[in-house]
Amino acid sequence: LGIIAQGLDETSGGAVSRAMKTAKFKAKQGTFMEILAPAHLKLDRIIVAGIAGDDKLTLHDWERFGGGLFAKLSAAKAISATLVLEDAGKDEIAPEEVARALHGAYLRSYKFDIYKGKLKDKKKEENNNDNGVEKLNVQCAKPAAVRKIHSALGGVVQGVFVARDLVNEPANILFPAEFAARAKNLTKLGVKVEVLGEKQMEKLEMHALLGVGQGSVRDSQLVVMQWNGGRKDQKPVAFVGKGVTFDTGGISLKPGAGMGDMKGDMGGAACVAGLMHALAARKAKANVIGVLALAENMPDAAAQRPGDVVTSMSGQTIEILNTDAEGRLVLADALWYTKERFKPQFMINLATLTGAILVALGQNHAGLFSNNDDLSQRLAEAGLATGEKVWRLPLGPEYDKMIDCDIADMKNIGGRYAGSITAAQFLQRFVDDVPWAHLDIAGTAMNSPKNEINQSWGSGFGVRLLNQLVADHYEG
Ligand code: BES
Ligand code: MN
Ligand code: ZN
Repeated sequence: LGIIAQGLDETSGGAVSRAMKTAKFKAKQGTFMEILAPAHLKLDRIIVAGIAGDDKLTLHDWERFGGGLFAKLSAAKAISATLVLEDAGKDEIAPEEVARALHGAYLRSYKFDIYKGKLKDKKKEENNNDNGVEKLNVQCAKPAAVRKIHSALGGVVQGVFVARDLVNEPANILFPAEFAARAKNLTKLGVKVEVLGEKQMEKLEMHALLGVGQGSVRDSQLVVMQWNGGRKDQKPVAFVGKGVTFDTGGISLKPGAGMGDMKGDMGGAACVAGLMHALAARKAKANVIGVLALAENMPDAAAQRPGDVVTSMSGQTIEILNTDAEGRLVLADALWYTKERFKPQFMINLATLTGAILVALGQNHAGLFSNNDDLSQRLAEAGLATGEKVWRLPLGPEYDKMIDCDIADMKNIGGRYAGSITAAQFLQRFVDDVPWAHLDIAGTAMNSPKNEINQSWGSGFGVRLLNQLVADHYEG
């Protein structure tokens, strides 16, 4: 036990150490030991929370610890708690570690229950103590340093929640114009937000993007966000998100089973919006562009047909052989536009792009495709630091050839094999030599497995990853 815990053990007449011995408590990560506090103490419960592991603890381990602890407190119906963080032996727990534990607790506290009207009221009546944990005090060394990191991470939590909300929202509520309206809220944080409608996109000749939304009664939108927190002379970094607010597949209609999941096909755009929120809220010292390519992919008399040929903003022509391969089409114009207008240091796009990435990597790594080794390395490291892991897959001329086309410059599908790679090759044709990375987040952004820091369908994947990337390499 650490010093404070020892004191507590003594005032409780040895109850803590005895319970730990009796229960053979080893304090492994994710394990808890709970005792009801002796009557003379001004406490209800003492919970001993474990975090010990075999390897050196990463910051993400601290987040998981905090998330697990929050769940434990909620289950115990605690309203407030004091968290004592100390090392049983020698070391002081670093402020960054303490702050990350709190961060994990906040991330875990997320709920998406705005549509639970009647049921929620009833539950509240039954149990007036259902608001969960309201207050978490912390006792630790260097509280001032913890507070500083904690407040920056507060912006990041907000950003993650923005992304989770957007992914969780149903598509009848969150269509392109509504998404754009929500992005406009970022002006309150000092982000410059422009919204381009279909007329403006027609002027720019974005026919790849416009073709996708052409069967929908909802107008397509392109949102351009700018956060200028860096030096004036610093080239911006750019993030571009696929925002298909619902993907039926279009005329190449998807099968019915599970189609409802396609409300989450804007997970890339949700991440970019959440990231801009996070960076602005914590006043990141970087110049950052965020672009959202928003459209709804519907079958309709006006919808585009398999076999149609469209001309993208870049001038390259595309034969649409499958209207369900629409993400690459909206991104093609958004990437080209971003590159031409902003000449960024790099572009990273995020997209729930292919079912094939789920086959390859499952739900615990996003697919990473890139024309740049340094950028890939940095993303991989940020992935390990945040637990939002990425795994690089290859690109190459052999794959690029698979989307060559007889009657146009390229086709929008590559055939049965290597579906995630041919999709990435398609995107690469719209970035020229700009350092670029594509994250295929079809497996990680939605329908997420529950874990210590997220229990919601939409995970907000990518916000913490890219916030970390910016913080580590592109600020100051
Ligand atoms: N939005 C889907 C990809 C997807 C699948 C996201 C499952 C999340 C979960 C994308 O637009 C799509 O339909 N891709 C097709 C591409 C194919 C037609 C080449 C796919 O993966 O089947
Ligand atoms: Mn599709
Ligand atoms: Zn899609």
